Amino acid sequence: MALRIGIPRETATGEKRVASVPEVVEKLIKLGFTVAVESGAGEAANCNDADYQAAGAQIVASAAELWASSDIVFKVAVPTVEEVGLLRAGGMLVGYIWPAQNPELMEQLKAKKATVLAIDALPRQLSRAQKMDALTSQAGVAGYRAVIEAANAFGRFFNGQVTAAGKVPPAKIFIAGAGVAGLSAIGTAAGLGAIVRANDTRAEVADQVVSLGGEFVKVDYEEEGSGGGGYAKVMSEGFQAAQRAMYAQQAKEVDIIITTALIPGKPAPRLISAEMVQSMKPGSVIVDMAAERGGNCELTVPGEAVVRHGVTIVGYTDLNSRLAKQSSTLYASNLFRLMEELCKTKDGTVNVNFEDDAIRGLTVVKDGEITWPAPPPKLPPAPAPKAVVAMPEKKSGGHGATSAPMAGSKLAVMFGVVAALFWLVGAHAPEAFLGHFTVFVLACFVGYMVVWNVTPALHTPLMSVTNAISSIIAIGALVQIAPDLTGFSGTRPDELIRWLAVVGIVLTSVNMFGGFAVTQRMLDMFRK
Ligand code: NAI
Repeated sequence: MALRIGIPRETATGEKRVASVPEVVEKLIKLGFTVAVESGAGEAANCNDADYQAAGAQIVASAAELWASSDIVFKVAVPTVEEVGLLRAGGMLVGYIWPAQNPELMEQLKAKKATVLAIDALPRQLSRAQKMDALTSQAGVAGYRAVIEAANAFGRFFNGQVTAAGKVPPAKIFIAGAGVAGLSAIGTAAGLGAIVRANDTRAEVADQVVSLGGEFVKVDYEEEGSGGGGYAKVMSEGFQAAQRAMYAQQAKEVDIIITTALIPGKPAPRLISAEMVQSMKPGSVIVDMAAERGGNCELTVPGEAVVRHGVTIVGYTDLNSRLAKQSSTLYASNLFRLMEELCKTKDGTVNVNFEDDAIRGLTVVKDGEITWPAPPPKLPPAPAPKAVVAMPEKKSGGHGATSAPMAGSKLAVMFGVVAALFWLVGAHAPEAFLGHFTVFVLACFVGYMVVWNVTPALHTPLMSVTNAISSIIAIGALVQIAPDLTGFSGTRPDELIRWLAVVGIVLTSVNMFGGFAVTQRMLDMFRK
């Protein structure tokens, strides 16, 4: 029987998001579920009851009715004691839970015999899980919004301008922490024309910073900053001192600082001291995204924007709610993808399959039993280094021989056959053919070497331009139309052949100009 998904109105103060939006409700219904929405649930995210109704949902007047009549409840904010009280015994709950921080909530859910999927417990390292990763989708939106908040509090343009009234220098922005939110902020600020610099303790993100238009500023101290799983670790005292000196220098130079530094399970690292704030130019802005976890800046007041030493310090903890429609839409898509995984049969039923690493990781309570923390997911083995594959260790004779020497002997046989074929061609083919054949073989070789050295991402533009150039038909057709003009002597072709040549030229022109046009469009995609 088709299960019913319920979407209640969020009750947390300031929470404007909603767990699903009309566009996604429609998809959930196509997956076989029925959907109920509490009246007004999407109002703050610009989704009204009529839109939900048009998408096929049933509007329910009260929270009590919604929770009682739903088999599965979708939530955004961590559920309150009252909300869990409304959950049906044996019901299913999907949303943020943060089990490590909320042991009492876990006990309450256990007592309810519930099955709970905590979207924050998703094993993010599984590439298959990315489509369900709400932490990433929400941090991306928050990073964008942090830049918009900074722009709002900042008294100047982001991009440099030369106007009749004078020259405006571009804003300089420093971003501390280049995780999901930080990278999103870098892309947004660079897109608005600012000069963007960023730092992270994990050196591996440097390339990503650069690819988004930022400059990676290194701390002058050698230490590996990765704590595994794409997260940071607490750094040594020596590193921290060197980092403080670099941040102090940046604070003096830049106009805006956006901090996003976070180490899972730890209070936010203190990166911006009161003295650094004082050293900033008046009118500068700091947006501290880590405000909720204690803040990366010493003077941050969580949830507020305050002015200290002439610097506006924005400590909003509701950046996602400040872009409620966008955040809700992405969150709703993440939950929809999760439902797709749970309901492979597309008949509105769910199978909480513990064989699936992603589902196992998410499930923190199953039928009233606490199943958190999940064992670490089985990741595919890291590919063996290339050198090992290319040059395997030679075992001395016998049955232990590896397959690589086999491949070598195969190659030798292949070469032998090809050489014999060439000899046959050389010995017996007519002389005119040999000339063409040599050019053909060399062309194959050169073409292969050229393509081999091109980045795979550029293969399509390369193909299209080659296509255009290879429209040699045009020359043949021109010879047919005007043998005198083209210098080729011979009998004049009859009318039919000339007209066929004209058609040939038209068709090959489409190939040529189309090829160049496609190449141009593809290359434009790589340009900023
Ligand atoms: P993330 O874990 O993807 O990124 C954090 C980054 O900080 C990592 O790249 C890490 O290497 C780096 N980092 C850690 N210690 C550092 C240090 N000492 N110096 C420099 N870099 C350091 O986290 P994500 O998802 O990007 O979130 C960033 C922050 O934004 C978190 O604090 C999160 O709670 C917060 N957030 C705030 C919202 C709001 O409304 N204010 C909304 C969403 C996220």
